[in-house]
Amino acid sequence: MSTITNLTRMWLTRSIKPFIFTNEFDEQLSFAECRNLGLYVHIPFCSSICNFCPYCKIVYSKEACDRYIDALIKEVHMAGRQIKSRKAVTSLYFGGGTPALAAGRIKEIIEAIQKHFMITEGIGVELHPDNVNVPLLQTLKDAGVTKISIGIQSFGEKHQAVLGRKNVDISAIKNALKAVSFETVSMDFIFALPGQTFEDLKSDIDTAFANGANHIAIYPFIDFTFTESPVRTMAKREKRKLLDDITDYCLGKGYIRDSIWTFSKGENVRYSSMTRDNFLGFGCSATTLLQEQFKINTFSVEEYCGRIDKGLLSTSLTIRFTLRQRMVYYLFWTAYSTKVDPADFEEFFKVPLKKMYGFEFWIAKCLGFLREEKGVYHMTLKGAFYYHYYENFYTLSYIDKMWGLMQKEAFPSGMEL
Ligand SMILES: C[S@@+](CC[C@H](N)C(=O)[O-])C[C@H]1O[C@@H](n2cnc3c(N)ncnc32)[C@H](O)[C@@H]1O
Ligand code: SF4
Repeated sequence: MSTITNLTRMWLTRSIKPFIFTNEFDEQLSFAECRNLGLYVHIPFCSSICNFCPYCKIVYSKEACDRYIDALIKEVHMAGRQIKSRKAVTSLYFGGGTPALAAGRIKEIIEAIQKHFMITEGIGVELHPDNVNVPLLQTLKDAGVTKISIGIQSFGEKHQAVLGRKNVDISAIKNALKAVSFETVSMDFIFALPGQTFEDLKSDIDTAFANGANHIAIYPFIDFTFTESPVRTMAKREKRKLLDDITDYCLGKGYIRDSIWTFSKGENVRYSSMTRDNFLGFGCSATTLLQEQFKINTFSVEEYCGRIDKGLLSTSLTIRFTLRQRMVYYLFWTAYSTKVDPADFEEFFKVPLKKMYGFEFWIAKCLGFLREEKGVYHMTLKGAFYYHYYENFYTLSYIDKMWGLMQKEAFPSGMEL
């Protein structure tokens, strides 16, 4: 698996140099001039832990959560003090964990952020289905939240049981969503679970859109090596058929594909913290992507609070990109949105895409992975499947390795990918 990602990396970065992460880091971050900057806040608490989940999370306690939020607000001010005036940012996303467990303090966090940043495209929060009730939704709305994403996983009893989750009360969710509205209501599903059929997924999609969602995300199940999930992934051919069938079904219904795994019912309905040119992440395990570097904070809640208490950032690993590495990173995440606009690339890197990767885009077009329309590259169905397939390698060779290490060590001495 890593052979495929290594060879691709060498080809596209035109170098045998791996991605090198070290434990030295900058206390001053160069985000003042970044265009299209997004913000992310990680809240790592959950009521109970799901064994398939790779994210940085621990079991909730009020005391630990309050101490963490105090540190988080301090971290926001530490970063905010590095810029002279309030900076415009695209969006703010809260992820987890289960951010709603800190719902009473979300407003305080947003206010701290708004002291330093102007959010122009809305605020999103990830929710567990148990969180979807009127008082909680109202608290979030009053705090300024405009988008929510609910981790349904499946409406089918059988598949919830496979994942060790309990059934979702869809009528309670529907009623709560009717009482408190949001610009985007997304629902998350997992596909390629053992025995899952197109009929199962079709029913999930229809149920979501009929009960208050205007956006859905259907993620392929990933069996991370460091989780204890007994669930195994589906064979490639079966998975491809499912992804193609889901895509055909959603496009046939007129839904808009706004990324490989997401579909929406309206033009301005979006929920994605991933497709940003640059982003700043706050909290444990949060990542930050800037023009010349990518960094990841410690996964240890305790060590995170300890560092911030001392007035230090909690950065654990940093990679300083070569230009080609940054271009590959940019293209990988831009392609996730299923289209690449050469004009955006040129604006970001001040060099034409054709000059840097003209040959690769030509090959991708000849192989039927892309089509060009008014100068913009759009992924075909075939291209989307292969992107998805490659993303699986990327997740298992890079993310799995990095997160696996970070779960074991708060501040590793470094790593190479
Ligand atoms: C942080 S959770 C969402 C909010 C909430 N904690 C919950 O579980 O409902 C983010 C999403 O990641 C997806 N996810 C988690 N583990 C996964 C895995 N092993 N493979 C694929 N998707 C996964 C799920 O769809 C989940 O809803
Ligand atoms: S899937 Fe959600 S609720 Fe389950 S452990 Fe992960 S973050 Fe927590």
